[in-house]
Amino acid sequence: MIELVQIEKHFQGQAVVHPLSLSIKEGEFLTLLGPSGCGKTTILRMIAGFEQPTGGQVWLAGQNVTEMPANKRDLNLVFQHYALFPHMTVEDNIAFGLKMKKLPRQLIKERVEEAAAMTQLTALRERFPHQLSGGQQQRVAIARAIANKPKVLLLDEPLGALDLQLRKSLQSELKHLQRTLGITFVYVTHDQEEAMMLSDRIVIMNQGKVEQIGTPRDVYAKPQTLFAATFIGENNVFSSPEGLFSVRPEKLVPQRGVAGRKTGVIEDVQFLGSVHKLLVQLDDEPMKVTIALDITEEHPWKIGERVGVNWNDKDEVMIGP
Ligand SMILES: Nc1ncnc2c1ncn2[C@@H]1O[C@H](COP(=O)(O)OP(=O)(O)OP(=O)(O)O)[C@@H](O)[C@H]1O
Ligand SMILES: [Mg+2]
Repeated sequence: MIELVQIEKHFQGQAVVHPLSLSIKEGEFLTLLGPSGCGKTTILRMIAGFEQPTGGQVWLAGQNVTEMPANKRDLNLVFQHYALFPHMTVEDNIAFGLKMKKLPRQLIKERVEEAAAMTQLTALRERFPHQLSGGQQQRVAIARAIANKPKVLLLDEPLGALDLQLRKSLQSELKHLQRTLGITFVYVTHDQEEAMMLSDRIVIMNQGKVEQIGTPRDVYAKPQTLFAATFIGENNVFSSPEGLFSVRPEKLVPQRGVAGRKTGVIEDVQFLGSVHKLLVQLDDEPMKVTIALDITEEHPWKIGERVGVNWNDKDEVMIGP
C-alpha cells in the first residue's frame, strides 16, 4: 500500500531523516516509535505530501506520488493538536471534508452518521467543540478522517494530549476501528506501551535512523541494538567479552545469599500490583539490575538483603559490540 524507497530529509543541510526504505501492507497497523526529534512527524509529512523528500520516492497503491500534491493523495492525516472548527457542530465538523469534495448531500449524511456511530458520537452530533471533553474532541477529529474513507490514515500522536485513562479507552477504540475498516494505519507515538498494544509492526527510530523493524513480540524479545533493548520495556544490559547482551527483568532469578552469576544488595522493593520488582545494586559493577517477580512469590524480599542474580543462557540477547 505504501512503499518508501530510500527517502531522506535534510533541513538546512542537516539530515533529520536518513535514507529509509519500508513497505507497508494494505490493512497494516504500522507505528513509528522513537524519542522527541527523531524524525517521526517528518516521515509522516513526507508520506502525506506536506514535505518534499530531499531524496528517494514515495509510492502509494502502486503509484509514484513523490511529486503529487497532498490534496491529490488518497490519505488523511490526524494531528496531535486536532483543529476542530469551533463554530461548527460535531456533525458539520465531520462533514467538512465531504462538503469540500462536493459529494451529494445524501451520501454526506450517510457517511457522517456512519462515522459518528463508529466513534460513538451519535448522541453528541449537535454539540459544539467547546461542549466536548478532550477525548470526545479527539474522536471528532478521527471521525472526520474516517468519513473520507481514505485508503490510508496517518495519525501523529493523536492521543498525546489526553490523560492516561482516556488514552487507554481510545487506544482500544482505534484498534477496533482499524480492524473493522481495514484501513492502513501509520501511527506515530513516543509511547512504547501504546506502540506495543496497537501495532502489527513497529519501526523503532533514533536520531533519524531506523534501529529496528519488527512485530511487538520481535522487538521486545529480540532487540537488535542497545537503543532498541532499552527503549522498549525495562531491560538489563551486561557486557561480556563477546559484546553487550540484555536480559529482561522477568528473566532474572534472585537467589538468597551470595550464590549467582552476579551478586548484589537489594536497594529497593517495588510493589506494582501484578508484579513486584527488586532493584539490585551489583557488587562488581557500578550498575543496578531490575528483577520482576510474580506477586505470588512467597518470601518477601527486604531492602538491604544480599542476593545472587541468575539467568539462563537462552535468555541472553546479543545487542552489539
Ligand atoms: N521545518 C523545519 N526546519 C528545520 N528543522 C526541522 C523542521 N521540521 C523539523 N525539523 C527538525 O527535524 C527533526 C525531526 O523533527 P520531527 O518533528 O520529525 O521529530 P518527531 O520525531 O516528530 O519529534 P516529536 O516526538 O517531538 O514530535 C528535529 O530535530 C526538528 O527540529
Ligand atoms: Mg512529532
